[in-house]
Amino acid sequence: MKSVTRLILVGLTGVLASTGSALSQTADPGSEDWPSWAYGFLAPLGEGDRVALPCPLDANPRSCRHPSAPEFEDGIKHSLPDTDLKFTAREADNGYGPADWYPGDHPEMPDIVRYGNEAAGVRACSLCHYPNGQGKMENAHVSGLPAAYILQQLDLFEAGDRRNSDPRKDNTNEMARMPARLTDEEKQQIAEYFSAMPFRQWVRVVETDMVPTVRITNGGLMVPLEDEPLVPIGNNIIEVPEHPERMEIMRDPRSGFVTYVPLGSLAKGEELVTTGGGKTIQCGLCHGPGMQGLGDIPGIAGRTASYTMRQLWDIKQGTRKSNGIMEPVVQNLSAEDLRNIVAYLASLPP
Ligand code: HEC
Ligand code: HEC
Repeated sequence: MKSVTRLILVGLTGVLASTGSALSQTADPGSEDWPSWAYGFLAPLGEGDRVALPCPLDANPRSCRHPSAPEFEDGIKHSLPDTDLKFTAREADNGYGPADWYPGDHPEMPDIVRYGNEAAGVRACSLCHYPNGQGKMENAHVSGLPAAYILQQLDLFEAGDRRNSDPRKDNTNEMARMPARLTDEEKQQIAEYFSAMPFRQWVRVVETDMVPTVRITNGGLMVPLEDEPLVPIGNNIIEVPEHPERMEIMRDPRSGFVTYVPLGSLAKGEELVTTGGGKTIQCGLCHGPGMQGLGDIPGIAGRTASYTMRQLWDIKQGTRKSNGIMEPVVQNLSAEDLRNIVAYLASLPP
């Protein structure tokens, strides 16, 4: 697989050399074309915005976040369709053993995925990524990824080579401090566990010019406000849970997202992804014909648009390293090109 990638890269360097690379300098989070929506904000970085705490690489992961509001608890035993299990909000959200609503949906969970390691400050992987690895727009979708890719990314976080470019988003800092506190055996169990499960349809894409008004949680989840009027989508992608209460309170691992994208973005994104549009190279050469992954290269179809945008933007800003593989791919693409690309990718079956 490595040699195939290298071969394609040689060709790619040629394509880019002939198109020029004027856009490769990094952008400013305070500027209008910064894709704030992908990081859980609807305006560029401004005065008074809370930025992430300084957090050394060897810090306890839990110390990387601003103290959160007291955990929500209504004392009600909630339920979900097709399960007899019931959990209160706080039980569902327990960082060291969150709700496992559908034990039949996944193989036996390794302890580190189910419980984390409280003494080391490592919260359960299943808290944010869910027991089935489907994950959320503000974190990541980890099921179905190649095991070798998962191990590579854990190393990248640990080395400080995978960071967020938006200074306001702090949950990636917690993520990035975890791998140093995992044993090699735990890393191996994690990679095998998540790679063995398929990533399932999770996103429904709607092209539109009007979107729900949203409130944004501390973690970066956009929640639609049912009683508020629709607002113009502008240059954003707005991604909301299909069932807001089930996702926010119960952490329902079977209910995904609605992704609202600006009119016309799917066709423009398809053009760039499938032909390169003279600015980049067809993604399918490496990610497979349906973008569902090829060998150790991860699938990029059907993930939330916010997740995929953050990766492409972080690679473009140089805060996520890709060994010279993805850097030239994004170099000539503007924020708008990337927004069209991620809209189209989200619309593909995973
Ligand atoms: C507090 C929430 C949280 C917890 C707990 C958590 N993660 Fe993450 N994870 C994240 C975030 C946030 C990202 C990165 C999102 C981004 O950069 O856009 C991420 C990304 C990842 C990725 C990269 C996926 C990809 O496609 O490249 C992997 C792999 C991963 N996490 C594994 C784990 C493992 C293993 C654990 C348990 C030891 C864990 N996570 C626990 C929040 C969390
Ligand atoms: C030359 C091969 C190659 C091409 C062409 C390529 N990619 Fe990639 N891409 C990779 C590899 C390899 C990775 C794995 C991570 C790494 O090495 O950075 C990756 C990672 C990614 C990721 C991160 C996935 C995750 O789970 O976090 C995204 C998103 C992505 N590519 C999108 C694209 C898009 C969009 C295109 C086309 C415009 C594209 N790639 C073209 C090789 C390629």
